[in-house]
Amino acid sequence: MTHLPPALRRRIPKPADLRPLLQFKPPVVGQAARLRRASTIWDLRDMARRRTPKAPFDYTDGAAGEEITLNRARAAFRDLEFRPGVLRNVQRIDTGVQILGARSALPFGIAPTGFTRMMHSEGEYAGARAAAAAGIPYTLSTMGTASIEDVAETAGSGRNWFQLYLWTEREKSLELIERAAAAGYDTLMVTVDTAVAGERLRDVRNGMTIPPALTLKTVLDASYRPAWWFNFLTHEPLAFASLNRYSGTVGELINSMFDPTLTFADLDWLREVWKGKLVVKGIQTLDDARKVVDHGADGIVVSNHGGRQLDRAPIPLHLLPEIAAELKGRTAIILDTGIMNGGDIVAAHALGADFTLIGRAYLYGLMAGGQAGVERAIEILGAQVRNTLALLGAASMSELTEDHVRLPAGAAVSGSAAALTRTTWAQRN
Ligand SMILES: Cc1cc2nc3c(=O)[nH]c(=O)nc-3n(C[C@H](O)[C@H](O)[C@H](O)COP(=O)(O)O)c2cc1C
Repeated sequence: MTHLPPALRRRIPKPADLRPLLQFKPPVVGQAARLRRASTIWDLRDMARRRTPKAPFDYTDGAAGEEITLNRARAAFRDLEFRPGVLRNVQRIDTGVQILGARSALPFGIAPTGFTRMMHSEGEYAGARAAAAAGIPYTLSTMGTASIEDVAETAGSGRNWFQLYLWTEREKSLELIERAAAAGYDTLMVTVDTAVAGERLRDVRNGMTIPPALTLKTVLDASYRPAWWFNFLTHEPLAFASLNRYSGTVGELINSMFDPTLTFADLDWLREVWKGKLVVKGIQTLDDARKVVDHGADGIVVSNHGGRQLDRAPIPLHLLPEIAAELKGRTAIILDTGIMNGGDIVAAHALGADFTLIGRAYLYGLMAGGQAGVERAIEILGAQVRNTLALLGAASMSELTEDHVRLPAGAAVSGSAAALTRTTWAQRN
């Protein structure tokens, strides 16, 4: 028989060997413990789906048409490659950035989202409070389901921005702007990618209405999401921050809100009447970025509305290098659409963004657990930002450069000088 070293010989386990291995813990109960188990935004999405009726979940999770834009935007972040630097001192990481005249503790803020109390009864209040606690800006939508004043009050000393859909009737817009200014909102974000509503096919298929209707289908759905319905029915009915009470399908509501006659002249008018920072959201070409900056915008949001408007729209991450090459320093460049990981945020900053916004990433947290869920989403993204920075060898956001990221060949918008200066797989390999 061959001689076996002692470590490879079988023996009966001794109780002293087993003791350190036995780690029976009480089962995880309660919301806080459940949220703690989520390590990624995708985990929060799974929890959100289990807890939210199908129609509001799909309204949030879905996009326009065949959802090609949203899938491509997320894939763009997955497909990039980081280029880390080693042997840098990254013991202390600073995730803060200056944006539109003030500091944000993290390089992202909360994007405007409509109907938020439909996703969870804490809605806008949860978003504003969680943002204030984290030291990041919160944007209230014109289609928000809490009033401009109530959100300002709930956010305490938090920083709020107001997103505007312009109407043909300027009086109505003016009234909202004045209320936002009086309530201390420092930035007005005018959304311009919504001449008409996108084709939200999931909503059509689900027969989604605002407020959600009690049909046989929704009642059956409610039977295994009782907490959502209990919350929904025991809180104040859904009403809009800035609109009169409405009931109808989402598409009808949106189309009644959006104004297809808007032009740059309306932007000029807005620039005159709003004294704070003015940001234009929904920029999808370099040419339009230039134009709105020439018309006085302090910032632009390079965005395709989370893929919820035009399907097969430009991908903001791919457009970014070209826009940054020309406009960095002249205007605040903000990016959204597709962010599901702190690494995505770091990559966007490396490619020229001054700030980023999260839409669904925070809404999944909200649906998973109200304000605590939004806090968890912010915490997850913040930790991922810190980790990515450290592993890239950058101690702060300002140390990021375009050399930290490679986009695959053909990803950057072709034909521009900026795109040619960007490293591509083809050039480097
Ligand atoms: C449920 C939902 C509602 C939205 N409502 C608005 C809105 O009222 N106004 C607006 O400008 N953008 C709205 N958006 C777009 C977001 O502001 C943002 O551009 C988008 O969510 C970014 O993509 P992401 O969800 O992949 O982060 C909404 C997005 C979602 C998911």
